[in-house]
Amino acid sequence: MEPSEKINIGLLGYGTVGSNVYSLLEEQAAEIKKATGASISINKILVRDPSLPRAGAPPELFTGNFEDILNDAAISIVVELIGGTEPAFDFVTAALEHGKAVVTANKQLLSRQGFYLFRLAQDKKTQISFEASVAGAIPVIKVLRESMVAAGLKSIYGIVNGTTNFILTEMSRTGARYHDALARAQEWGYAEADPSEDINGKDAAAKMAILASIAFHTNVGLDDVACTGIENVSRLDIAYARDLGLAVKLLGVARLYQDRINVRVYPALLKQDHPLASVSGAYNAVFLKGAAIDEIMLSGPGAGGMETASAVVSDIVSVVARRESPGFLEYPVAYRGLEFFPDEEVVSTFYLRLEVEDEPGVLAAIASAFGKHGVSIQSVIQKGRGARAELVMVFHPVKEARFAAAIEEAGRLEVIKSTPRPIRVEGNHGGGE
Ligand code: NAP
Ligand code: HSE
Repeated sequence: MEPSEKINIGLLGYGTVGSNVYSLLEEQAAEIKKATGASISINKILVRDPSLPRAGAPPELFTGNFEDILNDAAISIVVELIGGTEPAFDFVTAALEHGKAVVTANKQLLSRQGFYLFRLAQDKKTQISFEASVAGAIPVIKVLRESMVAAGLKSIYGIVNGTTNFILTEMSRTGARYHDALARAQEWGYAEADPSEDINGKDAAAKMAILASIAFHTNVGLDDVACTGIENVSRLDIAYARDLGLAVKLLGVARLYQDRINVRVYPALLKQDHPLASVSGAYNAVFLKGAAIDEIMLSGPGAGGMETASAVVSDIVSVVARRESPGFLEYPVAYRGLEFFPDEEVVSTFYLRLEVEDEPGVLAAIASAFGKHGVSIQSVIQKGRGARAELVMVFHPVKEARFAAAIEEAGRLEVIKSTPRPIRVEGNHGGGE
């Protein structure tokens, strides 16, 4: 029997994901060796404070100095799991420049510097893999890059943040308070080091930028994705939505409008029988729609240490399997250079909850403000609350620019006592159709 090849890894970060990558590689060593013909092991681990006691890996593997990994010629793969853009960008750049392959789960980094790093990997004839950067354990990057080449993709949308989906599910099912649900998401390792990235939609926007870039072969960065988070979704909205047979979800939507692209993240109301409405907890789900495939839905755990570690290990295995020929990475990723379709021109349906004076003529004044901009009301329910009332309204589909003008006008009416905060309502096919 031939001795198996030995592949040495330098691991950057030993937190929620990094520590699970270590244990998964240990536990699955025999399986991985059978699949790849190689013995894969972690040789060095970078952390901030290597003197701290840590479960799992032996203390001698830890270092506080990245140069120990960079200058170790035996290490051929660097796995970056520290998160954030700095110093991750410098570490990943240096690793690629030294010809090492990189595996990363860092959507913040890729949505800002991805195309520079992809090109650098190409120039250096090495690989950068990033399955775990989007949708946790779901192999959506691999499916997009390898299985959808001839699918004629037109849209890609879904739930791509586990923390907010967990919070919305808890608030809806158990009436949990927002802060309690967030604390539980942090405790279970779903949230980012700075959880405001989850809550304000930036984490989902970064993932949608990566997905859109890969799906449509164009360069979409974080700044190209308009995002609204769940900060302003209240327990009342969730309860009223449930009365209307709707569920609240934070959606990421990327769509081609002929040869222009629009990518956004926003909270949306979905009919209870929509497949995304039943995606609960920290699960994610992504719909791919295309001329040749109709519709494919991929779903599974979108966050969590071990779940994400499984995607990281799958990337390590792919990098090892492709070490002689990087295959897809020999070709430029963004060869189309599409223009963007403006948000204001997208046609959407909106839900709106307004706190108003409970007096005659109020509804007429509000309807008139919307009517002036060609925005028509589909349904309205009034909920009495003492001297005040709440109007829960759903509108007919309208260009977003017109709806924004109508909201501005209505917001100036004295009878309205709350800041109007509309939520989009998605149709049966999702993504604003
Ligand atoms: P984490 O628990 O905060 O762990 C971060 C690790 O990186 C820690 O070990 C930390 O060292 C180390 N680190 C941070 N800054 C460093 C620096 N400047 N120099 C050296 N080491 C440094 O993070 P995580 O949840 O594992 O997330 C890691 C990455 O995976 C992020 O990009 C995240 O977005 C992504 N991700 C996470 C999940 C999830 O469910 N958690 C899912 C998908 C993707 P110390 O231990 O010394 O503090
Ligand atoms: N914080 C992220 C989420 C981790 O909740 O989805 C997975 O990328």
